[in-house]
Amino acid sequence: MESNIKEILVTEAEIKARCVELGKQISDDYKGKEAPLFVGLLKGSVPFLAELIKNIDLDMQYDFMCVSSYGNSTVSAGDVKIIMDLNVSIKNRPILLVEDIVDTGKTIHAVKELLFNKGATEVKVVSLLDKPDRRIVDEKAEYVGFVIPDKFVVGFGLDFAERYRQLPFIGVLKEECYKGE
Ligand code: IMP
Ligand code: MG
Repeated sequence: MESNIKEILVTEAEIKARCVELGKQISDDYKGKEAPLFVGLLKGSVPFLAELIKNIDLDMQYDFMCVSSYGNSTVSAGDVKIIMDLNVSIKNRPILLVEDIVDTGKTIHAVKELLFNKGATEVKVVSLLDKPDRRIVDEKAEYVGFVIPDKFVVGFGLDFAERYRQLPFIGVLKEECYKGE
């Protein structure tokens, strides 16, 4: 799998070190407040959530949700379909949404609205990656691991056609790997 990678943008060591910093920052920010429910968006957030929570010093809980975009440009920005819903009630609870990447911003825009509709008091976002050049909806994660250029990346949860999620770093695929898909 690694031989299909052209360039490594973020190494495993850099991700781990950044998760220590983010974990400390989040723990400090919520100190003395109600701890948020961490909501990981499946499947891309799994490695990041697993790494991040090692560094969270709060009375925390986490849960998962899986949404898919309708993938139809005629549907208004941000419409998503719930594939798998949360297992717990989030009424009157603060949420920290955990994402792999904020690209157009449509996903977090829609999911935030969804979580507020379910009664969340606050929704903040922590994202491993941010690709600001591609933004369509005016959304921003409160906590960002790394800002990256407008390149399609894989690894650490991010996929191309459901593959490469297991790579321990963030990399750019060789062009020939896109062919035939
Ligand atoms: P958004 O709704 O456009 O912000 O997209 C968020 C979702 O698009 C992410 O959760 C990823 O699943 C996917 N995505 C966006 N950019 C990339 C990329 O460079 N590599 C892999 N997946 C990506
Ligand atoms: Mg994806």
